[in-house]
Amino acid sequence: MICPIESKADSPVIIALDFASPLEADPFLALWGGREKPFIKVGVQLFYAAGPVWVKELVEAGYSVFLDLKLHDIPHTVAGAVRSLTGLGVRLLTLHASGGRTMMEAAREAAEASSGPEPPRLLAVTQLTSTDDRMLNEELGISGSVRDSVLRLARLAHRSGIDGVVCSGEEAGWIKEQVSGEMLTVTPGIRLDGQERGDQKRVMTPEAAVHAGADLLVVGRPITRSADPVATYEAIVEQIKKGRGHRE
Ligand code: C5P
Repeated sequence: MICPIESKADSPVIIALDFASPLEADPFLALWGGREKPFIKVGVQLFYAAGPVWVKELVEAGYSVFLDLKLHDIPHTVAGAVRSLTGLGVRLLTLHASGGRTMMEAAREAAEASSGPEPPRLLAVTQLTSTDDRMLNEELGISGSVRDSVLRLARLAHRSGIDGVVCSGEEAGWIKEQVSGEMLTVTPGIRLDGQERGDQKRVMTPEAAVHAGADLLVVGRPITRSADPVATYEAIVEQIKKGRGHRE
């Protein structure tokens, strides 16, 4: 099932605008010209450089915005951050599931109490796609596999009333089956066949990720560093249609 969050744009691709400032991001967005505005993700680098006013302007210009700030702090502070951010009108907002149940519930309650625009849907980050079993065990001292950790944190997020998770393509299928089919699965770590992985360790092609259970795909460098970003975006949308065909 495709989630209603994407109903505005008929594309489940979210472009990660991982640029240093609006001076780089604005000309990139202008490449879309008169085409339908893409769903975009603003992460910490750009948010810290550009600030909330710029994000609000994007929303007012008609962009669907995923604000990927990966909130993680004590419950009171995260709830306050959510209250500050709900006025921007963004569609999706991330927080770390490892902040625990009370923190996630406080964030949800703060979003629900918003009296402004429709509050963002909250997504939990379980384990970053740059994390592998060795890093989890040896560096972070967490036993078990990335898979175990992802499932445990996704269950916790679900019980805390969080709308969805950010997860690898492979994990999207497990989460749909083992946590809840209702959890929105948002998947970064997407690479076209033969492309550089960069720092991502758990990668999939767009077609394979959707086939595996991802509802929305976050794609950064494969589009932003492409010689023709609009053509690459459109090629990814085509691949997704094929992936959905296999899933249905
Ligand atoms: O350039 P690339 O396609 O690897 O970008 C992936 C985007 O998804 C980045 O903005 C990164 O911060 C984000 N992300 C991720 N892994 C997560 C959560 C978000 O790669 N678990």
